[in-house]
Amino acid sequence: MSKKLKSIDYGLEKIFEGAKDFLPLLGTDYVEFYVGNAKQSAHFYKTAFGFQSYAYKGLETGSNDAVSYVLKQDKIRLVLTTPLHSKSPINDHIVKHGDGVKVIALWVDDARSAYEETTKRGAKSYREPFVEKDEYGEVVRAGIYTYGETVHMFVERKNYSGLFLPGFKEWKTEYNPPSSGLKYIDHMVGNVGWNQMDVWVKWYEDVMGFENFLSFDDKQIHTEYSALMSKVMSNGNGRIKFPINEPAEGKKRSQIEEYLDFYEGAGVQHIAVATDDIIKTVTQLKSNGVEFLSTPPEEYYMAVPNRLEKFSHELREDIAKLKSLGIMIDADEEGYLLQIFTMPVEDRPTLFFEIIQRMGARGFGAGNFKALFESIEREQTKRGTL
Ligand code: FE2
Repeated sequence: MSKKLKSIDYGLEKIFEGAKDFLPLLGTDYVEFYVGNAKQSAHFYKTAFGFQSYAYKGLETGSNDAVSYVLKQDKIRLVLTTPLHSKSPINDHIVKHGDGVKVIALWVDDARSAYEETTKRGAKSYREPFVEKDEYGEVVRAGIYTYGETVHMFVERKNYSGLFLPGFKEWKTEYNPPSSGLKYIDHMVGNVGWNQMDVWVKWYEDVMGFENFLSFDDKQIHTEYSALMSKVMSNGNGRIKFPINEPAEGKKRSQIEEYLDFYEGAGVQHIAVATDDIIKTVTQLKSNGVEFLSTPPEEYYMAVPNRLEKFSHELREDIAKLKSLGIMIDADEEGYLLQIFTMPVEDRPTLFFEIIQRMGARGFGAGNFKALFESIEREQTKRGTL
């Protein structure tokens, strides 16, 4: 099952050996957000990001304690959940963290085995295996905690032919804005507290059988004012990639500290979603009202041709167009990638999205970190949180 990723040389020689296969993961199943008002959030993700109405559960379907809207775009499924009364424990999560990601659900062939293998290796249980049934068959799920109050839910759906999960019905709407070309989740990044990165790297290695295949230290990721460290964890088939960030000492408060302060703990910092045509996607997202970080300065784009030439890659896109949209370019020996980051999608400066188009490169835009963080610092300055 193991697959070798070629080393990506950012000054660090890391050969990805492939993970131990006690936890075969087929992909990301869904991402569930706990939000204050799921109905309005669903409208936002449809209108702004081009997600489609997909499935629903609430009072009309017999769910009396919480309502969930499922949105879909190509392979991406978002679940937006809001409690229906004050006694729901979901409220505690929202009061503490604001709107944010609660569940990163992972698609498995055997949820009971996934739960058993991870809990016996030290995972804290969130929910023991449970079976849900309807006329389309059954789904087995089980959950474990990862960093903060975030959960990995294992989802086994091999005996299920329904739309999403038992308990949900198809959600049909008259208002259906077009897709923006988002295809699948490329990676999801977690922010953890001081000196916690290696703790969670070890957790993903020991408990989930992941491998650390790229690392960036504070000498690589810093600006004049702030710094952070990051390690990228990947499962055996490379479908699941979880970079983990922690703050590092700098002259001022880093964006990771700002996140930890406002999320009140560790949690998901950003979700990177892939597109085949970033110019088209970002043009559409901008016209839909999605706010992005400010465009990097002129010098940034002047340096791009050299960066691509170093690896003998030819940029297929028009650089003037990329610049006008604020899309950043990074390259490694395998290819290049195009990426851009949204502003936080809620009032607390916490979760945001990345839009990424990979043209061969398997990195995470290390060459863009400095420009990106300077852009975030301009926003932090406005918020008074730098
Ligand atoms: Fe990213």
